[in-house]
Amino acid sequence: MVIRLTARTSLVLFLFAFTASAMARLWPGPRTQWLLRHRRAFGLAFAFSHAMHLVAILAFARLDAAAFAQQTRPLDWVTGGIAYVFIALLAATSWDGAVRWMGVRRWRLLHTVGIAYLWISFMATFGKRIPMSAAYGLAVALLVAALVLRVIGSARVRQWCLSRRKIA
Ligand code: HEM
Repeated sequence: MVIRLTARTSLVLFLFAFTASAMARLWPGPRTQWLLRHRRAFGLAFAFSHAMHLVAILAFARLDAAAFAQQTRPLDWVTGGIAYVFIALLAATSWDGAVRWMGVRRWRLLHTVGIAYLWISFMATFGKRIPMSAAYGLAVALLVAALVLRVIGSARVRQWCLSRRKIA
């Protein structure tokens, strides 16, 4: 239950951090500005929630090794392990000093690739559970909607639309 609960709290926190900039650009206002100001806190809260997911996973593995082996595949440790490395790197570099230390380009590359990998991880883990319950489709729909929002609200796409309007 804790593993499932933390996967779900992680999703909600991840989605807020994932869409904050796009929402602030698409719907400027006090609420979206608040979300944008607290985006880093949402990201760190996501990292904490997923650390709890890992703690619960390790507890499950210790308490019932046979059931744990039945529910996971060795590949999960590889794909999930990569996700945890990204989570640790993103959390460790989510302060202004890290941007200066790494340089904007490298910092942006790390955060873009890491966030994309986490989005795919959520899609894969929730998506594969849809045959068990259609309710998992809601998580997948939220992930797709968040991606669409992020693309539409991205600074580059909006700039491109504005330049097209000027030409027209
Ligand atoms: C070392 C890596 C990981 C292992 C061994 C692992 C293992 C597990 C286990 C045993 C469950 C419970 C299965 C069940 O009761 O149905 C679970 C659920 C889940 N995990 Fe992980 N996990 C890992 C990393 C991740 C990562 C990185 C994500 C996403 C970013 C993730 C997302 C989920 C989701 C969405 C669920 C289903 C929650 C639900 O049923 O609502 N897991 N995981």
